[in-house]
Amino acid sequence: MSGPVDLAFDPWDPAFVADPYPAYAELRGRGRVIRYEPTDQWLVPHHADVSALLRDRRLGRTYQHRFGHEEFGRTAPPPAHEPFHTLNDHGMLDLEPPDHTRIRRLVSKAFTPRTVERLKPYVRGLADELVAALVRDGGGDLLKDVAEPLPVAVIAEMLGIPEADRGQLRPWSAAICGMYELNPSEDTAARAVRASVEFSGYLRDLIAARRGRPGDDLISGLIAAHDEDDRLTEQEMISTAVLLLNAGHEATVNATVNGWWALFRNPAQLAALRADHSLVPTAIEELMRYDTPLQLFERWVLDDIEIDGTTIPRGAEIALLFGSANHDPAVFPDPARLDLTRTDNPHISFSAGIHYCIGAPLARLELAASMTALLRRAPTLALAAEPARKPNFVIRGLEGLSVEVR
Ligand code: HEM
Repeated sequence: MSGPVDLAFDPWDPAFVADPYPAYAELRGRGRVIRYEPTDQWLVPHHADVSALLRDRRLGRTYQHRFGHEEFGRTAPPPAHEPFHTLNDHGMLDLEPPDHTRIRRLVSKAFTPRTVERLKPYVRGLADELVAALVRDGGGDLLKDVAEPLPVAVIAEMLGIPEADRGQLRPWSAAICGMYELNPSEDTAARAVRASVEFSGYLRDLIAARRGRPGDDLISGLIAAHDEDDRLTEQEMISTAVLLLNAGHEATVNATVNGWWALFRNPAQLAALRADHSLVPTAIEELMRYDTPLQLFERWVLDDIEIDGTTIPRGAEIALLFGSANHDPAVFPDPARLDLTRTDNPHISFSAGIHYCIGAPLARLELAASMTALLRRAPTLALAAEPARKPNFVIRGLEGLSVEVR
């Protein structure tokens, strides 16, 4: 299918961002692949296709391992954006094999189920402290008081970022992540470039300091890998650290507040969860499905690919709609219903294929720790004011979530 102009899918419309799921249902009805002129992309809304394409090696997060910009029919980014691209393009998320494989293998040692299991007491203890403070205050902003400090502290601790420097992480990350929205503006790019320069400079200095005095943190581990047989370049170390710091908290913060906002809107489900805390694991999966924290991921077409009779040529870009895949009735019966007991839940929120979220076990641990602490210590937690949604489409979140503990 090609070129419909009357779609309800409109990532710049606040009404769409408030609730994109009905528009996704319409898209799924249109077909398996829909040409979308405003972003020059092909939209893919069905679960089976999103899931298969994430694993398809004819697509890539980058094309630069195989083609030059012009050869691929694209223009090079403006030189003024260079610091952002240098940083971004050397992180594993924007690399393809063999570079991706080499870096992912090194980093994945820090995220094995066993390593994450060892973090459990620390993560649970921190979640308890944060929730205890919220309860003492009779409430507050669940985002600022619990959802954000927990994953920021955990990933900063893993990388060995000194406590005094952690305040910068969120603003740097937010500025850089602006570039992952559709058609970012020049202003967004300028902010991302500034943050990339500062964040890279900060890490370059930290790496130099750690080289002199190694610790048992992940940055020291990356330095050791670099120094032993040059398995990581200096730029790759910086890009890996930034990727981990950003990816290590952005989506978890949003998943936490989107999840609680969904619970407050579904009081019977919240009551069931309060009555039976053993539902926490399925509740977390269902909340990530129900209001998907990262709505869309893009792939370049490296070799022509046919979808439902339409040939998508090399050089085109495909937009995989995770939020839509997670509401596809072909996979999830009654998808608009929040069902915390849903056990057959193959949601795609952590992606699939070679870029499958390396931090998924850690994210699950953090989400379970904050949810359990809130259920136990704040059984009367209630919404204090209607939250404002962030205007962003791709990274789906709230400005804050005002709560009270009566
Ligand atoms: C609820 C929380 C999280 C969600 C929803 C999430 C989601 C995702 C998704 C969808 C991708 C792949 C994107 C693609 O296929 O193009 C990804 C990759 C990644 N995530 Fe997460 N993530 C979360 C938490 C974390 C955490 C806590 C970390 C900790 C370090 C992390 C680190 C990464 C990294 C390094 C990658 C790149 C993997 C690769 O390219 O091989 N994420 N994440």
